[in-house]
Amino acid sequence: MFYKTFALSVLFGLLFTAQAKPWDRRVYDHDYDKVSAVYFISNDVQNAIVSLKINEDGTLCDGSFTPTGGAGMSGYFGAPNVTAGPDSLFSQSPLTVVRNFVFAVNPGSNTLSMFSIAPWDSTKLTPIGSPVSTLGEFPMSVAAHHEHNTVCVANSGAKAGIACTKYSWRGLEPMDGLRPFDLGQTTPPIGPTNTVSQTFFSEDGTQLLTTVKGNPPFGTTGYLSSFPFDHDHVSMTGTKSSPAGTLVLFGAAKIPRSNDVLVTDASFGAVILSVSDVGIATTESSLKIAGQAATCWAAYSHASKSGFVADVAINRLVEVTNDGAVGRIFNSKNGNPGMTDLAAGGKIVYALSPGNATAETAVAVFDVVSGGQITELQNFKVKGEMKSAAGMVLV
Ligand SMILES: *[C@@H]1O[C@H](CO)[C@@H](O)[C@H](O)[C@H]1NC(C)=O
Ligand SMILES: *[C@@H]1O[C@H](CO)[C@@H](O)[C@H](O)[C@H]1NC(C)=O
Repeated sequence: MFYKTFALSVLFGLLFTAQAKPWDRRVYDHDYDKVSAVYFISNDVQNAIVSLKINEDGTLCDGSFTPTGGAGMSGYFGAPNVTAGPDSLFSQSPLTVVRNFVFAVNPGSNTLSMFSIAPWDSTKLTPIGSPVSTLGEFPMSVAAHHEHNTVCVANSGAKAGIACTKYSWRGLEPMDGLRPFDLGQTTPPIGPTNTVSQTFFSEDGTQLLTTVKGNPPFGTTGYLSSFPFDHDHVSMTGTKSSPAGTLVLFGAAKIPRSNDVLVTDASFGAVILSVSDVGIATTESSLKIAGQAATCWAAYSHASKSGFVADVAINRLVEVTNDGAVGRIFNSKNGNPGMTDLAAGGKIVYALSPGNATAETAVAVFDVVSGGQITELQNFKVKGEMKSAAGMVLV
């Protein structure tokens, strides 16, 4: 038994340190109530969803490792053959959760995978059907809508653009067609500029919005693409707008009960965009974050009623108020090189740090509410995962 457990751990390259329980088999037992979890993708050659269980106090413990049935792939950083990471995909939302389903991209096999989440244990994921083609290359962001039963994926490689399909308990139908983006990219893409960042549905579900980064050295600005959701499908034709003052729009977080979206711009910080009924974005406020290197990821906390953004090269959590000002700043001393994908739930913000060539992946856990302060509760190291890990969702 020990040997088998150990072999699995080595095979999957995953040993959790904090609880010192390699490949804890309890995740397969069905004798306890549903627990909440965080998920991210390994984006390794054999791609997988890594899930970590959430304790009652919000801290993380051991979880599970579920192969997606597809391949990961990392972009090239600045030049051909220079493997990117952390920020292996130049994107936000490579996986997403709606209802009891998880969707995850496979950037190296140009497919999307779908799983169901066991109601009694959020770390138990079961594939539904086989991965389906994303009709493009290097899929790196996915959006799903809970009422439309629609899922859309963004591709950022030599064949870039958006494809959508319907999902159900039977799985994913074939994608409907590529809505191309003219980036002139390679597969994998050379980033981080001139790549697709994130696709997501607007708060009211009437638009599929996608942030695309410009290429400042070549004088191109980024844009927000919008495809209306119309007659039960995402339109094949859309609009683009380049909100004033933005260059490299990256991760987005919807501000509840509004058409406003907090979007990072890696070149200076973040903006609050107002998105019209027809998907045209205008800059409501622009937020220069002093000393930033690459502010790329965003999440919105309902508990603190504010946004949070992360910088891949600076190990700090920066709060953004609803009117677009810098709020609290928490400089972490946990030794991670920086933070990427964020997820907010309850009083907590979870921040992925994919590590680098020498540092392993970690997830930092911040209480952003208690005592009006930001407190770091934990820095959970995920052994065996390094630099290509991406995404952060909560269930
Ligand atoms: C990148 O790697 C490939 C395969 O090893 C090689 O053929 C190609 O010349 C390399 N390109 C550059 C620009 O180094
Ligand atoms: C990786 O991150 C650690 C911690 O921040 C840092 O000390 C180290 O120099 C980094 N290594 C590389 C190869 O960038």
